[in-house]
Amino acid sequence: MKILSAEFVTSAANPSQYPPEGLPEIAFAGRSNVGKSSLINVLVNRKHLVKTSSTPGRTQLVNFFDINDYFTFVDLPGYGYARVPASVKKKWGPMIETYLSGRSTLKGVVVILDIRRTPREEEHNLIAWLAHYSIARILVLTKADKLSKTKQDKQRAAVARFLALDSSELILFSAKSRKGREDVWQAIEQFL
Ligand code: GTP
Ligand code: MG
Repeated sequence: MKILSAEFVTSAANPSQYPPEGLPEIAFAGRSNVGKSSLINVLVNRKHLVKTSSTPGRTQLVNFFDINDYFTFVDLPGYGYARVPASVKKKWGPMIETYLSGRSTLKGVVVILDIRRTPREEEHNLIAWLAHYSIARILVLTKADKLSKTKQDKQRAAVARFLALDSSELILFSAKSRKGREDVWQAIEQFL
């Protein structure tokens, strides 16, 4: 995918603040601090289009980005971070679910997992939930640079077993080395 333009559109807490439905949308979902925003920045070749942070819970709204005036990337708030105030945490689930269930232009979801972590209940729920609503998805194992090549393969197989998926469904990625960028784009282009 050749990136001609990538622009922030708006942040929204609820559907009344979403931009009008128009271009096809691809959403990015995953645990807090997993690297959703960093993945988007690498995909669009922009270091700071999306704010990233070593403090989990940075993205607390649904953020829309126009890419090439052709489709929209949607950065969803990360779930599952224990140290976020309860008032914020309570809004996460509904905010993510409201977006995913009600957006007719949503073409697919990129589910991002940390390659070093075994998926937990939230990941199971998200994947089952997407299947239930017949929403297309791809899975990306990020922060691959944190493991040796041997451990990457081992961990990919373990995560696949855990989620009862074929390991070919899990794309290895690193925002640091940009490994896997082309593979992720290829999968996203299938959505479009
Ligand atoms: P929230 O918005 O808080 O949910 O986080 P996020 O999922 O958007 O994560 P973000 O992209 O802000 O990255 C979190 C931290 O992980 C930052 O310190 C990033 O630099 C780091 N990070 C993200 N991707 C990678 C990666 O592939 N490799 C390494 N080594 N670090 C990464
Ligand atoms: Mg973020």
